Amino acid sequence: MKTPKTEIPEEILRVKQRLSIIGDSPALIEAIKRAVTVAPIDLSVLVSGPSGAGKEFFPKIIHQFGARKHKKYIAVNCGAIPEGTIDSELFGHEKGSFTGAVSARKGYFEEADGGTIFLDEVAELPLTTQARLLRVLETGEFLKVGSSTVQTTDIRVVAATNVDLIKAVAEGRFREDLYYRLSTVVINVPPLHERGEDILLLARKFASDFAEKYMTKPISFSEEAKRAMMLYNWPGNVRQLKNIIDQLALFEAGTEISRRQLLEALPVNRDPQSTPMLAPSDDSSELERKMIFQMLFSMRDEIEQLKKKLGHDAPDAERQIHGVRALMAPERDDDGFSGNPLDLSERRAIEDTLARHGGNKKQAAEELHISLRTLYRKMQDLGIS
Ligand SMILES: Nc1ncnc2c1ncn2[C@@H]1O[C@H](COP(=O)(O)OP(=O)(O)OP(=O)(O)O)[C@@H](O)[C@H]1O
Ligand SMILES: [Mg+2]
Repeated sequence: MKTPKTEIPEEILRVKQRLSIIGDSPALIEAIKRAVTVAPIDLSVLVSGPSGAGKEFFPKIIHQFGARKHKKYIAVNCGAIPEGTIDSELFGHEKGSFTGAVSARKGYFEEADGGTIFLDEVAELPLTTQARLLRVLETGEFLKVGSSTVQTTDIRVVAATNVDLIKAVAEGRFREDLYYRLSTVVINVPPLHERGEDILLLARKFASDFAEKYMTKPISFSEEAKRAMMLYNWPGNVRQLKNIIDQLALFEAGTEISRRQLLEALPVNRDPQSTPMLAPSDDSSELERKMIFQMLFSMRDEIEQLKKKLGHDAPDAERQIHGVRALMAPERDDDGFSGNPLDLSERRAIEDTLARHGGNKKQAAEELHISLRTLYRKMQDLGIS
């Protein structure tokens, strides 16, 4: 006999429906409950959780169910703004305050006065910007870049991060006082592999959404495929599941997906040091064997291609595999032509690395030995979504 599910309060069901959040697992419901509870209380909130887990729903819940719901909501991706302009983006600047500042500009903290700012990837903020942020959080005061006139604003800040901020503090990359200020209320968004049957609920929902989008028949999943989905670690969390269902929905429309088809769609992990891709179970050894074969085949292909491309330049092959060489290629020509081979190899290196890490940009940037900010810029330049 199945154990009855714990009742999910009516209010939480309404929130889930309004934002199209799928999942009934206790850890996800707990996170939504915390957001709903804190929404009417004007505190800053820190949303923590791995990449692709669904953190972006939480600042929206907090804004929409709080007193500021009729005011502005601005989402800022702190990792995607170049370090040189981030202060001006957030706090504005005066005319002539730096080369290119031809007129004064309002920053987000001024524009969203009375509303909410969502600072995504907050750990990416440079230390100088962290100091400005701390001041505005504590006193509501800020200075435009190039100005000495103190201005005030009334903003609620919700921040999100997929890095361990305590570690960032210990390493001197994040201000301790700012960490305490932001983390009065923490909402932990659980990784997908801890959400049990939510995985299947999400897969079904994405399958039907994509069928509608592509105007095809939805895919379904064999029992074996469902078991494999439940066993897999989903390093890229919901975003990765969504991408895989998207692929399958397009190429296998109307069919029942077998375990083999599912495994073939999963990226291959080549880093022997990284965490295992599959949760331990009696079934995992066969899955792992399959992945190792896939990995060897695709590496062999890549090495062949590299040999052709590099000629005698063999010592570079290892680096090219990791995409580093491609990323060290000179910047695109001024004519902006994006079809040149360097762009294409760079694009492939980035796309492959992202796929290997299930879309986790931080891990991909680490493997490519570039900063997260550089990765964002390159993705933007190359039109990688
Ligand atoms: N519970 C869920 N129900 C439906 N869709 C979800 C759920 N969780 C995440 N998603 C979808 O998965 C994708 C990734 O979610 P989101 O962008 O919120 O991740 P994130 O935690 O902010 O990741 P990152 O740290 O990389 O920014 C989005 O398309 C989102 O709509
Ligand atoms: Mg996000």
